[in-house]
This record gives sequence, structure tokens and C-alpha cells, in this order.
Amino acid sequence: MTDISMVSPDLGSGARSGWPARITINVITGINQTHNLVVVGLSEGFFRDKFKNAMIATTFRDVILSLGRSEVEPEDVSVRTAVTKERQMKIPFVSSPMDTVTESEMAIALARHGGLGVLHRNCTVEEQCEMAKRVKKAEALVIRDVVTVTPSTTIAEALALMQKHEISGLPVVEKERLVGILTGRDVRFADPSLNVENLMTRKVITAREGITIDDAKELLHEHRIEKLPIVDVDGKLSGLITIKDIILRGRFPDATRDDEGRLLCAAATSPFDLHRAKELDKHVDILVIDVAHFHNVKVFEATKKIMKDVNAEVVVGNIGTFKAAEEAITKLDDVAAFRVGIGSGSICSTTAVTRAGAPTLFATCEVADAVRQYRAGIPIIADGGIRGAGDVAVALAAGASAVMIGNLFARCKEAPGTLLTIGGRHYKQYRGMGSPSARAKRYAIDRYSTPAKGLPEGVEGWVPYKGEVALALHELLAGLKAAMGYAGASSVSDLWEKATFLMISQYGEEEASPHDILLPSETERG
Ligand code: XMP
Repeated sequence: MTDISMVSPDLGSGARSGWPARITINVITGINQTHNLVVVGLSEGFFRDKFKNAMIATTFRDVILSLGRSEVEPEDVSVRTAVTKERQMKIPFVSSPMDTVTESEMAIALARHGGLGVLHRNCTVEEQCEMAKRVKKAEALVIRDVVTVTPSTTIAEALALMQKHEISGLPVVEKERLVGILTGRDVRFADPSLNVENLMTRKVITAREGITIDDAKELLHEHRIEKLPIVDVDGKLSGLITIKDIILRGRFPDATRDDEGRLLCAAATSPFDLHRAKELDKHVDILVIDVAHFHNVKVFEATKKIMKDVNAEVVVGNIGTFKAAEEAITKLDDVAAFRVGIGSGSICSTTAVTRAGAPTLFATCEVADAVRQYRAGIPIIADGGIRGAGDVAVALAAGASAVMIGNLFARCKEAPGTLLTIGGRHYKQYRGMGSPSARAKRYAIDRYSTPAKGLPEGVEGWVPYKGEVALALHELLAGLKAAMGYAGASSVSDLWEKATFLMISQYGEEEASPHDILLPSETERG
């Protein structure tokens, strides 16, 4: 039996984190002999100093927020935040670009509730662009790429178009000029072989470019119509306002929108796929450079080219150190945001395989300090390892503006993964982008470095089904606001300034969770 007890910690000045630079440990053996063992620091040297200078890779489980004097109630806390230098969100949640997390349905739902989805890239460029188009079309004040017909289109063709695009009315144009409108009511029992000109309404109520929502609403109501084409002085069709979009706008007042009122859309791209980046740029507002280790010369150079060639804002990542942030701030012209954290994701095996990584909380503090030191004003998206609202609060307190979530969103209805029932319980598929089955699709394989191409850096499995993402967001938000209340912070920037951390021991972590009680779920009948 060997009992090891730590005595006389010598708080040396060399340790950056304030932890003991030297720890003397007494080893008491079973036969009562005492040896004095110095673990680090008795003598110095290049390699021995690596222990002395080792920083603590702090993770979400290592800390809790300390309590602060509170002047606001949790319900009055604002969690409005910046996701990029130019874009704000009402809630600090972004979904991971993973093929079991974010396609159009998740991106639409998150943007409607005030967050943002990042479309995955484990598909063809065309498929990813289609997803982006669906997000952009989901709602808009003025639809720009209006689906139209001509007077000579047959009713059968018009009906097929309505079905394909899930729309109930089609403006009729001839040489770009609006000449009529065909609605679902016009064609309901019509002979499909007739032409559109036989049934279209010729006298169309229209509006001019720049009409306000209120004026559009009034016109739609006054004439009891559902669609309002926008035309220029020559009668050319330039857009369409629909009652559906106006209603949706009212239903989702917190939605994250672009300048034209459409939902904000972000998509992932490889730094080495300029073609994909340029094609996506036609549809999305934000491009997310998607590599496991951004701090790499070739990745920097490739990203520079993308930044030069696209209009979208470019988020770079993943990074995990002060130095990586420093180099990106000083060498790249326009970083819109940093995606931060390497190896903390619930499906990650990067650190397990390579013993290399930057846990999300540690990485966030590193990068946040670089951003602060350089007064760069670049928002940080803390990515990976978020297990609940408390982790979100801690990530924000560490300097993040938003968190990126895979696991908790993969559980939701809007995620693309398949649903499975095991023993009466529902689960959804969730897999790392470096997992064997995700890699088999090959489109996102360059997220990981070349030697790792044959080496999985992720796992796949099942997560409990949650229901709609709105429910997950509601719970995260309630917990986050409560945490901010305890920390005495009324906003995200207030949390950055005021919140401090307490390091918690393993015993403390156990005490911090329900204990010494048999929960109903643990009983046989539970
Ligand atoms: P959570 O904890 O929310 O983390 O599931 C999602 C994040 O994990 C990253 N990711 C991976 N990391 N191997 C990795 O090392 C993988 O296969 C993998 N797939 C995703 C990614 O940053 C994501 O946002």
C-alpha cells in the first residue's frame, strides 16, 4: 500500500497559471519509510523546463462561476451578441457544420430563433449551394429570384412549378415585364392543357421598390391579395412580397436576418477549395474555414486567397492558442470571427489519438486575450464540449461571444441524422466529421491533416432524441440567463468584465451534482 500526500507546495514565480512551480511529494510506503520525491524543478534544463512551464489545459469541468453582486433579474439579462464583426444575433448559439447537425432545416430553425446554423460541407458544392438557397428562400421581405411563367406556359407546367417550389402563385412575365398573375385559385379545377394566358388575372396590384412592410401589409389587406409584385417604371418585375413572409416575420421577431430581411446563412468550406468558397459566396453571408488546425502556413496562404475573392465575411478556425490568434490578427486582413477549441467535441478523438489539443475553455481564454491585447474586436465562437447552459456561461465568461454546438443540436428534430428507437426510447445518429463513416463520403476529409487521412479522429454513435430545437434553445437560454444572474452580469460584455472562476476539485464536482439520493430514473420502475 502506498499513500501519497502532497506537502509544501512552493509557489514559484515561473508558473504562468499561478500553480506551484515545484511540488514536493512525500511517498509513504507500506513499511513506513518516507522518501522525499521532487517531481519538477529541482534542477533546470531545456526538456525539464517543459514540465515547469506547462500550462493547465483547463476544461469546462474544472471551473464554476463565482457569485457576483446582482443588479438585474435573470429575465432582464440580454444575451444579444456578435457572431462576426458585422453580424449580431439575439442568442449566442451557432450549430456545427456537421452532416448530422446542420443542413437547411436546422439553419432555418436556428436563424428564426435568433441564432445561426453553419451548413456542413460533406457533400457536393451543388448540394451545399442548394441548402443555402433553401435558407435564403425560407423567408424574405422581398423575394428576388421570383419563380415566373409566361403567358404560353401550360397550366400543367405551372402546376408542376407550384408543387416543386411549394408556392401558391406565379407572376406572369413577357420580356421581363409583368403581364399578369396566376394563383392557386385560378388553376384549382382547370384543364391542364390550357395556357396560362387563358386563366391569369391581368389587372395586377403592384408596388414599387422601397415599399415599407407596413405599406405592403396595407395593400395586401385592402385588396385581399396574398402576393404583391414589385415592378419598376417600365413594368419590369424586380421582386415579390408575400403575405406568408410578412406573417413569418411577425412570428419570429428575434430572427437573425440579412439586410434584405432574409435569414442569415453561413456555410463551411475547406481552405483549399476556392471553387466551393466562390460558389457559396453567391448565396451565403458568412463562410467558415473548416479545418481542425488553422495555425498552419499552407492554410493561412489558402485562406488569404479565399478572403481576397469573396464578399462574404470569413470566419477562421479552429485555433487554440494565443500565438495562432496573434498570427491571424497580424497576417490576415479581415478575420470576421475566430472558431476556437481543438479536441473537446463530444465525438472528437483527436486528442485521444494524438495527445495534442486545446480544450475549448483554455483555448477561448488564450484567443480572447490576444484579441483584447491587439484591440482587434474579433468575436470568438467557442466550439466543442458544451454539455449544458452552465458551459455556455463559462465559455462566454472566458471571452467568447457565442458557442458552437454539435451534440446538443444533433438530438433535435431539425438535425439530418436518422432517428432510431431502442427499447422504446428514441435516439438520433451523431457522428464526428473525422469518423470512419463521415470520412467515407470524402468531401470533408481535408479537415484533418494528410497523415491522418487513414486515421479516424472522430467517433459515431447515438444521442437521445430531444424534439424541436426550439425546446433545446429554451432550456439553454433559461440556464444561461440564470447563470448570468448569479454572476451579476446583465449582458455578454458585462459577463466578460465581471465574471471570475473558481477552480473545482473532483470532489467538488461530485458535490455540485445531485448526490446521495436514488433518482427515479435509476430505480427499476423509473
Ligand atoms: P460537440 O461537443 O458539441 O462538439 O459535439 C462539436 C464540435 O466538434 C468538432 N468536431 C470534431 N473534432 N473529430 C474532432 O476532433 C471529429 O470527427 C469532429 N467532428 C466535429 C467540431 O469543431 C464541432 O463543431
